Amino acid sequence: MSASVYLDHNASAPLEPRVLEAMLPFMRGQHGNASSLHRAGRRARNALDAAREQVATLAGASAAEVVFTSGGTEANALALRGAGEARAPGRLLVSAVEHSSVLEAARALSRAGWTLELIPVDRDCRVDLAALDALLRPQLGKVALVSVMLANNETGVVQDIAAVAARCRAADALLHVDAAQAGGRLAIDMRALGCQLLTLSAHKLHGPQGAGALLRDRAVPLAPLLAGGGQEQGLRGGTEPVAALVGFGAAAALAAAELPARAAAMLALRTRLEAGLRRLPDCTLIAEAATRLPNTVQFALAGHDGAATQMTLDKAGFAVSTGSACHAGRPSHVLAAMGLPAAVAQGAVRVSLGKDNDAAEVDAFVAAVAAVGGRRPAAATG
Ligand SMILES: Cc1ncc(COP(=O)(O)O)c(C=O)c1O
Repeated sequence: MSASVYLDHNASAPLEPRVLEAMLPFMRGQHGNASSLHRAGRRARNALDAAREQVATLAGASAAEVVFTSGGTEANALALRGAGEARAPGRLLVSAVEHSSVLEAARALSRAGWTLELIPVDRDCRVDLAALDALLRPQLGKVALVSVMLANNETGVVQDIAAVAARCRAADALLHVDAAQAGGRLAIDMRALGCQLLTLSAHKLHGPQGAGALLRDRAVPLAPLLAGGGQEQGLRGGTEPVAALVGFGAAAALAAAELPARAAAMLALRTRLEAGLRRLPDCTLIAEAATRLPNTVQFALAGHDGAATQMTLDKAGFAVSTGSACHAGRPSHVLAAMGLPAAVAQGAVRVSLGKDNDAAEVDAFVAAVAAVGGRRPAAATG
């Protein structure tokens, strides 16, 4: 296979051509600051308003609840640090498998006097609800803020947010949900989820890199991370990047309209990929029993280091990831929290499919994995 096959959409999904088309006018002739009162400024403002509506619609929120940011990382920081700095320090619960941008924001709060506790997960990466119940017992002191992601970037595991939200509601705790990996892959309804804060990132859903949003219940007080010209309801100073946000809006609208077809196509490919990998001797599928994103498969080949496998596959023309699986030779915090044996964690490789992959690419990929270490798929049975 000559051209490289891209199977790393959880790292970043390629810009959709229709999104680029929507952005181009704002990169070519249509220049304007959305805060300016003249015609060019008003045109930029109208474009931002439309994008805000599109992003809100993707997640079942209202336009007034959208705070545009530079991406998922900033949205997560605004959710945790912004909510934390707007109230007196208290207890903060964060799942052990959160993205590093949530964990680092939580650690920043702990340095500012908050008590940070991690919610454990089971072997399949699912938040341990009994442990959450125990952490929320009023005798331990009031929990002010909880953060649990909708879908994990490494394993693809989807959390039972409704169950988490019911517990947070009963404990009168704010709930933030990082939905960066879920956008365009799962239906998201902020109200049905029952959270007050929700993170989205444009480039995970075929929008541009460098754009994201925090959706927030307006009753929740937030302190801005960046104060400035009063943009984004005073919650995020800085001239809005109109072209990028128009692209985010366009990507969100396409993701919403095409979600059923995209999700079904990716799930069919994921099923085919998993069937192929299961036929390889010594291949372990990670978090196999859990509900996962339709596009994500993480596996490990016994006796093979994940980073080495990834490099071999790259040479063979397949872009996959270790899924942040190795930091300086140590297994990822996600796989460690799941309690996977070190050999499996060290071997982990993440495949994240996209809407434009096809069955031939998946079959070629399985053959390439089989060739790693001289393996060949065992004959299919049944
Ligand atoms: C779950 C999750 N949250 C947040 C982020 C950060 O998003 P961004 O790259 O837009 O800063 C990522 C990106 O990998 C992610 O996977």
